[in-house]
Amino acid sequence: MKTLYWKDNQLYLLDQTLLPHEVEYLVCGTYQDVIFAIKTLIVRGAPAIGVAAAFAMALAELAGDDLEKAAQEIKAARPTAVNLAWAVDRVLKSESVLEEALKMYQEDMDTNRAMGKHGATVISDGDTLLTHCNAGALACVDYGTALGVIRAAHEDGKNINVICDETRPVLQGARLSVWEMQQEGIPVKLIVDGAAGRLMQEGEVDKVIIGADRVAKGGVANKIGSLMVALAAKRFGVPFYVAAPKSTFDHDNSIYEIEIEERDPDEVLSFAGCRAAPLFTEVRNPSFDVVPSDLITGIITEKGILKPF
Ligand code: MRU
Repeated sequence: MKTLYWKDNQLYLLDQTLLPHEVEYLVCGTYQDVIFAIKTLIVRGAPAIGVAAAFAMALAELAGDDLEKAAQEIKAARPTAVNLAWAVDRVLKSESVLEEALKMYQEDMDTNRAMGKHGATVISDGDTLLTHCNAGALACVDYGTALGVIRAAHEDGKNINVICDETRPVLQGARLSVWEMQQEGIPVKLIVDGAAGRLMQEGEVDKVIIGADRVAKGGVANKIGSLMVALAAKRFGVPFYVAAPKSTFDHDNSIYEIEIEERDPDEVLSFAGCRAAPLFTEVRNPSFDVVPSDLITGIITEKGILKPF
């Protein structure tokens, strides 16, 4: 099952807001449909929104839309993952937007498998791996980055166990990562976000492996909650790995200068569609954390394992 695919000049997106209960594709016929899907997390995860953005540009070109205007609007859909701007700029510079988007689609799959091979070398037989959010097949075209490394270790015959943080407020861990691991037959346990430190303190986690929305000077941006996991990992001596393709690298900016998306307060005020907090509650809802380089053991890429910069 693919997170997204192109067919008959339309983009099909697996609607991740309905998972794990329903498997349904949204059909996008315009670039504005894709922007809507990116903003509402129908498609999400840095590599997946990058490839979706490239196809959004192809839809704009097919419709005869103003490509510069479409590019600006698509880039503004979500600010933190660098893949969005990277993908739009790349197709704009190419000879054929659609051909380049199709190339990026294939590259994403190849990249994740290469990343998996490198990453599997740091995973030992018997390891328990903790992950946060969903950096899996659903966050890419398929296979995944952090979960791709876990898949690769499993394919190598290593006996591994996975612990998924539920990842409030949108529950990408509970809804998406647990689902992916179950489909793969990899033993998985779900914990509330606040339990990660406790499990590390008890020696129940051998390694942490997460994805990234941006790797920049000074560290890595990833889903809110990643910083607390990294701090606990440092305190309890648990190696902390980030798996990210080179398309997620931003060599021009400091990680402290980038925009961190602040999402709708309603995500925090309710749980699974039910209002949880009193009326008139004020909310902060930053969607991403910055994990400083000194908390990161290594960055697993398709080219090998790198030190953060
Ligand atoms: O808000 P999301 O669900 O798009 O956030 C996704 C993450 O934080 C992922 O860990 C990141 O994009 C890496 S996905 C390979």
